[in-house]
Amino acid sequence: MTFPQHRLRRLRRTPALRRLVAETRLGVDDLVAPLFVREGLDQPAPISSLPGVVQHSRSSLRAEVAELVSLGVNAVILFGIPESKDARGSGASDADGIVQVAIRELRDEFGDRIVLMADLCLDEYTDHGHCGLLTAQGEVDNDATLERYSEVAVAQAQAGVDICAPSGMMDGQVMAIREALDSTGSDQVSILAYSAKYASGLYGPFREAVDVEIADGGDRKSYQQDFHNLRESLEEIRADLDEGADMVMVKPALTYLDVLARARFEFDVPLAAYHVSGEYAMIHAAAERGWIDGELVALEQITAIKRAGADFILTYFARSLAESFQ
Ligand code: PBG
Repeated sequence: MTFPQHRLRRLRRTPALRRLVAETRLGVDDLVAPLFVREGLDQPAPISSLPGVVQHSRSSLRAEVAELVSLGVNAVILFGIPESKDARGSGASDADGIVQVAIRELRDEFGDRIVLMADLCLDEYTDHGHCGLLTAQGEVDNDATLERYSEVAVAQAQAGVDICAPSGMMDGQVMAIREALDSTGSDQVSILAYSAKYASGLYGPFREAVDVEIADGGDRKSYQQDFHNLRESLEEIRADLDEGADMVMVKPALTYLDVLARARFEFDVPLAAYHVSGEYAMIHAAAERGWIDGELVALEQITAIKRAGADFILTYFARSLAESFQ
């Protein structure tokens, strides 16, 4: 008997045939490496829940970026861990804060060969671990936080960042940042908005990476999205685009492929996805026990995120994937 599906079988017969008809192609240009840099470190420090990822010192950060560039990965997003934290997250906007110093050093060394992004938030810098300033009652004060985000954006821009990536989910953050950048001579700095960002259980290892613990066992459910909702994401994205976002992001990635696919269909702007720390850690944990082939599953997951509609993907696998593509 011959069945219509035999056509598909014929095209799967050899690796070369499969490559020829592949609908999705993943390459180094799709990858953005998230990198952590910690103030006052001499040596890189491992992060136990993110095997293979470290808190960098300033010099190990430059070495890591040099390796990424040599592998063809030319986009990175920086997260800073300050030596001391306070209620206002002062280190985030200090001209000599760790991320600003790192941006200047990377720009000096690599010029425009790399795309430098900086996560724009306060949680790594606040002693209470929230993404914004708190009221006397301990609630996140949206509008007061916008002023702080504007200061952070200006500091990152003056240090030489290409793209500010606000991740705090404050209402009006994109507009506030755009205005601050435009009025301080940084109208060429782009905004990648973490628009559809869910209150997820998958950020755990990241919190270890940046030494963040939310005060009093709190969470981010009042400002990040509820995972029961899809339409809400479209509204968040639309609002950020109206406010002036150049690109938008869905985060996490795998649990929200439906959101990505819908966003791809609805909006004609570059769309990013963040394969987050918990997604990376789960693969490593299972692979360590020999339960899955970690490299294969990483490739499968990151390809699926591209297939669902992401133009580029922030992933802790950026380096190992790039190595496997060589
Ligand atoms: C907030 C921020 C978070 C992540 C990126 N930016 C943590 C949070 O919202 O609690 C998580 C990234 C990851 O888990 O890999 N600054």
